[in-house]
Amino acid sequence: MVFNITCIPGDGIGPEIVKQAKLVLDRVAEKYGHTFNYKDILMGGASIDVHGIPLTDEAIADAKAADAVLMGSIGGDTNTSPWYKLEPSKRPEAGLLKIRKELGLFANLRPALLYKELADACVLKKETSDQGFDLIIVRELTGGLYFGKRETVTENGIRKATDTLTYDENEIRRVAIKAFDIASKRRKKVTSVDKANVLDSSRLWRQVVNEVSKDYPDITLEHMLVDNCAMQLVKDPAQFDVVLTENMFGDILSDEASMITGSIGMLASASLNETKFGLYEPSHGSAPDIAGKDIANPIATILSAAMMLRFSLDLSKEADDIEAAVKKALADGYRTGDIYTEGMKKCSCSEMGRIITENI
Ligand code: IPM
Ligand code: MG
Repeated sequence: MVFNITCIPGDGIGPEIVKQAKLVLDRVAEKYGHTFNYKDILMGGASIDVHGIPLTDEAIADAKAADAVLMGSIGGDTNTSPWYKLEPSKRPEAGLLKIRKELGLFANLRPALLYKELADACVLKKETSDQGFDLIIVRELTGGLYFGKRETVTENGIRKATDTLTYDENEIRRVAIKAFDIASKRRKKVTSVDKANVLDSSRLWRQVVNEVSKDYPDITLEHMLVDNCAMQLVKDPAQFDVVLTENMFGDILSDEASMITGSIGMLASASLNETKFGLYEPSHGSAPDIAGKDIANPIATILSAAMMLRFSLDLSKEADDIEAAVKKALADGYRTGDIYTEGMKKCSCSEMGRIITENI
């Protein structure tokens, strides 16, 4: 079959890791007789440098026209990069928020699991990591504080800034349904995270999630306050299966969840709309400090490509093949610097890409 994939190499390590993911996809295409047509678009700093804005209408149109979008990472060093001297709506991150909104990518899936082979890299106590964990955060991605009305004003000589957190019931319902659907294919538990002891938006969130849960009698639903969830993630991550939460809480908790795996360079993510269409990207950022050195870990991007095959292109066998190839590379002892432990075989970004490609 023929598929059109729009790629966003982006900034920092983005171009090097996307390059490796394309090599892996090309090997899959060769093995299974598919054709992947790639079209690269600019986003983030790379787009600012050429067009003066982080995302053009043409780039959005190219993304919409594809079967799926594969992204590396965007953004630079916020302290030193000239991109951060621009007004906020022209900075790299604005491009990412815009593409999420324009493509209607309201459900952000961020799995965090502990790889057996990498248990030594886990930052948790050994008795906790010994239990293992495999959870997925389903983060609402196109509402809440990120997209609410905001302003900065000066009143009577006093500077004042406002951000607003709004959700309507439809926005909550559609992402809740995604979370319950995902849980029904996993261990059948949804933990909905909110701050219902303080926020109105959280109280509505809880009501709507309760309503949705009535259609899923075999799924256990629990509600958890976000501060408690932050604590439980380091205390007992094995209790979680699907964690459902709003945009800002999901941003914070997903960084925490990926960090406790000890291998943020391994974690993929998917951002989905109501159809099968999605944007796939590693959970980590653009790591400008190591860009261009061929030492980044390409695995999260390669696993994002596997998620893309599974969710958007209906190629689950091919996706399984990529995941198995990654596991084999780890089992054979290959490690990029970020996941290296003594006695293992240290390899570069491109070597890791090649080894995984050869395992397919
Ligand atoms: C993420 C990132 C983005 C977010 C930034 C870069 C705008 O942190 O994807 O988690 O906050 O959503
Ligand atoms: Mg984040």
